[in-house]
Amino acid sequence: MARRFAGGALIVASHNQGKVREIRDLLAPFKATVLSAADLGLPEPDETGTTFIANAELKARAAALTAGKPALSDDSGLVVEALDGAPGIYSARWAGPSKDFVLAMTRIERELGAHPNRCAKFVCALSLAWPDGHCETFEGEVRGALTFPPRGGKGFGYDPIFIADGHSVTFAEMEPAAKHAISHRADAFRQLVAACFAP
Ligand code: IMP
Repeated sequence: MARRFAGGALIVASHNQGKVREIRDLLAPFKATVLSAADLGLPEPDETGTTFIANAELKARAAALTAGKPALSDDSGLVVEALDGAPGIYSARWAGPSKDFVLAMTRIERELGAHPNRCAKFVCALSLAWPDGHCETFEGEVRGALTFPPRGGKGFGYDPIFIADGHSVTFAEMEPAAKHAISHRADAFRQLVAACFAP
């Protein structure tokens, strides 16, 4: 039986404004006062894990311990089949210190070259941790295909090159609510809510 969130302050353990915005939207229906790690000046721990789940847990635990409050973290990324899963857990790092996702998307296009397999998925591990170190973690995904050149100005990160299965526009061309209905983050969030938030 998963531990439940009892309400009150919840720290979103991320310095990525795009993720914080989406998690705030997803948390809107619940009794939580959402604070971001950046608002609280919490440090960003090194992502030393080798999986999305390990990195999500280390970020949530670090924030919950430092702040003395429950913390929710997100570790996510783009997994490209023809690149053996790259950039995967290194998705943020492919954008370099200046967080240049045009550069990161160009690198994917270059490394794919003429490869006919354009299949990719976004993966998201969400971890809810408490100051005593306990955490509950859930992984979600959305499958799709890559398209070049990038299209659309909404969303963040790799959204402009990703078209979810069954759709014809990129995540960056979708309204936020439409992306939230099908995204990897929403998939993980549904599991988290069912286990830790639902009455
Ligand atoms: P990390 O979880 O902080 O290591 O960063 C994950 C990276 O994956 C982000 O910086 C984005 O580049 C990418 N990413 C994760 N989720 C999404 C998404 O919903 N859309 C586009 N890019 C994403």
